[in-house]
Amino acid sequence: MTHRRRGLLITLEGGEGAGKTTAQQFIYDWLRAQGRSVTTTREPGGTPLAEGIRNILLDAKGEMAPATELLLMFAARAENIAKIIEPALGQGQDVLCDRFTDASRAYQGAGRELGLAAVDALADWVHPTLKPDLTLLLDVPVEIGMERVGKRGAALNRFELADTAFFERVRHGYLEQAMREPDRFVVIDATQSLNEVQTEIQSALEAVCGGEHCG
Ligand code: TYD
Repeated sequence: MTHRRRGLLITLEGGEGAGKTTAQQFIYDWLRAQGRSVTTTREPGGTPLAEGIRNILLDAKGEMAPATELLLMFAARAENIAKIIEPALGQGQDVLCDRFTDASRAYQGAGRELGLAAVDALADWVHPTLKPDLTLLLDVPVEIGMERVGKRGAALNRFELADTAFFERVRHGYLEQAMREPDRFVVIDATQSLNEVQTEIQSALEAVCGGEHCG
């Protein structure tokens, strides 16, 4: 039996209104155009149970302690890893995940001020060996992100209702993580034009696919 190559885990991160949805489609299309098989998923979510947890987490009328929030994020993540991410990677498919553990570092660790140690302890337990091969961080100043979210006109979820100070902590949490792990992170200035953002995303994808047979 030939040994099947494991796929790549690519995660997409950023604050509110950073343009993750458009970026995700671009990444998916690019990887597919290279002849790669791609599974997309999101966090919190990805499986019926994890999507149920997502509904509890995002419910604007809900209220919960920061520790509950962090534990629910990891409960959803454990499901997504077991049912979607690991099986796909094991079959040689790339996995494109809209948010992953770095979001818990930024939102719960920094934003909710639970600290990195709590998040890292859960990460070490839930996925001790699983780490993204590439993390694209779409960075946008808080005011610009919030303005974009406001223009969507959709009802705000529980996170989007948080105050500016929370989102400033989230942004800095992400940027600090990117500085800590420069080999894994690519930070993209999401205030640039769509074309510029996509050019930078493509360079990052070419670099991570570089050592492999792409296509
Ligand atoms: P997402 O679906 O990416 O929302 P949006 O597209 O509106 O940015 O993520 C839902 C929310 O969950 C988002 O506000 C960030 C939050 N979140 C955390 O707080 N911690 C986490 O670990 C994850 C994965 C998401």
